[in-house]
Amino acid sequence: MFRTHTNGELSSAQIGQKVTLSGWVQTIRDKGFVLWIDLRDRYGITQLVFDSERTSSQLLEEARKLGREFVIQVEGNVIERTSKNPNIPTGEIEILVEKLTILNESLVPPFTIEDQTDGGEELRMKYRYLDIRRNPVREKLIFRHKMAQKVRNYLSDQNFIEVETPVLIKSTPEGARDFVVPSRMNPGQFYALPQSPQTFKQLLMIGGMDRYFQIVKCFRDEDLRADRQPEFTQIDCEMAFVEQEDVINIFEGMTSTLLKDITGKDFSKFPRMTFDDAMKTYGNDKPDIRFDMKFVEVNDLVKGKDFKIFDDAELIVGINVENCAEYTRKQIDTISDWVKRPQIGASGLIWIKFQNDGVITSSVNKFFNEEDLKKIVEKFGAKQGDLILLMSGESNKVRTQLSALRMELGNQLNLRDPKEFAPLWVVDFPLLEWDGETKRFHAMHHPFTAPKPEDEHLLETDPGKVRANAYDLVLNGNEIGGGSVRIFNKEMQSRMFDLLGFTKEDAEAQFGFLMNAFKYGAPPHAGLAFGFDRLVAILDGNEVIRDYIAFPKNNSGRDVMIDAPSAISDLQLDELELKLNLKA
Ligand code: AMO
Repeated sequence: MFRTHTNGELSSAQIGQKVTLSGWVQTIRDKGFVLWIDLRDRYGITQLVFDSERTSSQLLEEARKLGREFVIQVEGNVIERTSKNPNIPTGEIEILVEKLTILNESLVPPFTIEDQTDGGEELRMKYRYLDIRRNPVREKLIFRHKMAQKVRNYLSDQNFIEVETPVLIKSTPEGARDFVVPSRMNPGQFYALPQSPQTFKQLLMIGGMDRYFQIVKCFRDEDLRADRQPEFTQIDCEMAFVEQEDVINIFEGMTSTLLKDITGKDFSKFPRMTFDDAMKTYGNDKPDIRFDMKFVEVNDLVKGKDFKIFDDAELIVGINVENCAEYTRKQIDTISDWVKRPQIGASGLIWIKFQNDGVITSSVNKFFNEEDLKKIVEKFGAKQGDLILLMSGESNKVRTQLSALRMELGNQLNLRDPKEFAPLWVVDFPLLEWDGETKRFHAMHHPFTAPKPEDEHLLETDPGKVRANAYDLVLNGNEIGGGSVRIFNKEMQSRMFDLLGFTKEDAEAQFGFLMNAFKYGAPPHAGLAFGFDRLVAILDGNEVIRDYIAFPKNNSGRDVMIDAPSAISDLQLDELELKLNLKA
């Protein structure tokens, strides 16, 4: 038997007992006459003691040969500690060691296995198995496990059946590029890894499964960010004989169950906002509503005052930054430089200060008199001590820029408390999105999303105006899930492919299987998918999903530990009948 107890288990209740423990050597403190070792495993740390009075000199010598991260087994007696450590559960006791066995030696680890490690990101990724030994990483993986278990329980209780769908499939369009896998048995042909199980879950509805879910890996070849990985996990769901409202209720229930578990608080009805309102009020379809700074449009108040920048602009819109009127010229210049960076691309910003002494002043005093400024301040509902920041330009662009500024100020002013949760449904997304580059409509969600019945008449005349019963769940400014009511009729589905610019042949070749299935009694259905990595990270007060994935990829999509992707042998290429022709 390797152990009678784990290293997080023993307390003063076991004093006098003989125990066997196993684990890793965390630290060794050698005072000459006495030597302590902290022994670590997943469950905690237990202190071992060897001393010249009670331990044989041979055993003490053996202990002196140990190094950090050696794997050892010890037998000994649980005794009371002289200097207790109230910070750990085993802090009242220590083990007086009688027998020591080295199970495995270890090289000196390349970084310290401590909560605050000296290892940089890349090094920790290369030795991820050592990183996982550290509390912060391990705790995140355990948190993820607990959330997965709660999700499974909730959905099973609601009659959802977990069904596995294939990984070697044909392209499913979710807007990213596919990862492809060559087929040896079908030379020249490729599988695509699923960007999501979208078509399969719809086929399961046609198969009569009624309620499906899967905690499932998805693959998207897209540029990476803190909240994006090339392979990530979805909680993927689909339901038959439902409307948008039914889907929203089930998944609001699931999310509030998780939130209650974490915060102890009840999150009754989640607020809802239409896509149009979200764009107008926050410049963004995933607004963080934990803080205010709502957009206020002031075209009516600022045009015609000989200020050319405003006169030429399609939209002049701003935010009220509360209690910041005392910002210095230098502070405002820093903000102005921030919005002018190429990543944001604004031409600048105008400020209006409603000073604490009641005076209103601005960077455009030359064009706007006190009365003009007063009207603007009133429209914002600003109070003494507030700072108004205005931006102008082409509507969509300026909204996006101001939205980035709003989030930046939210961060700077500590208005985004990671322990506060503000869920929000964004509904009524447009069905289609115009792509100026390809001069074509794209499906905003995906091509299987149904138009709102009341907007169907616009499909031919004004497709850009058609709304969909498509919804996103937003948590703290992050899109954690999205879904829609689906098309379940063959004619409507082929009409949609037409609108998206597919030829009949292309639509048939790519999605003939689905349209064919629609001929055999497809029920009305709808669903959604959560980004599980994102959900878990945010619920744990974080926005970087990498930390919640056991073996993540780096920003170039590489696994630096196993060194993937990598070249394959000529033999493998031959078997696949592939020839590499890489551009230099
Ligand atoms: P969608 O494309 O919106 O919908 O994806 C659902 C959720 O998955 C998460 N997500 C990601 N997480 C990490 N890394 C990525 N690269 C990544 N891409 C997406 C997001 C997102 O909200 N089939 C549809 C769902 C449906 O209609 O039922 C779909 O995949 O949190």
